[in-house]
Amino acid sequence: MQADQKKALYEEAIKELISITEGETNVTALMATVSCILSEKFDYYFWTGFYVVDPNKQNELVVGPYQGTLGCLRIPIGRGVCGTAASTRETQLVADVHVFPGHIACDSRSNSEIVVPVVNADGQLIAVLDVDSVELNSFDEIDRVELETLMQRIFAQ
Ligand code: SME
Repeated sequence: MQADQKKALYEEAIKELISITEGETNVTALMATVSCILSEKFDYYFWTGFYVVDPNKQNELVVGPYQGTLGCLRIPIGRGVCGTAASTRETQLVADVHVFPGHIACDSRSNSEIVVPVVNADGQLIAVLDVDSVELNSFDEIDRVELETLMQRIFAQ
């Protein structure tokens, strides 16, 4: 997809999400709505959803709202792409998941992915947003900047 087209789709998605979620504070409702709008908007999104920091087991992520094929239920913080994004609090942009050390393959059709940490207004890590694609090399700096902006606007304000 061309850079301009990608930016325009993110702009639309962010505008729609800000308007739909205005005044909503329930985190499950926000995550479900973000997963739905993003996966409808982007054809190259194959799995779109959240892994949430388990309040009962702070060293584990547990699957939250998502769109796509069956996801793994739990991921230890520090393991795989999602666990690394959670432990470093840095977005992971992975062009080929098969060469990422410790990658957890929930669906063997996934070939590239981006995982963005989700932080609340108090600066606490509450989840990660995980987007997988069946193509190699689907995500770039545009996806990173736009998704980081979206997570900030929806979950930290
Ligand atoms: N690939 C992820 C696991 C989650 S699924 O792809 C839905 C990882 O290594 O963290």
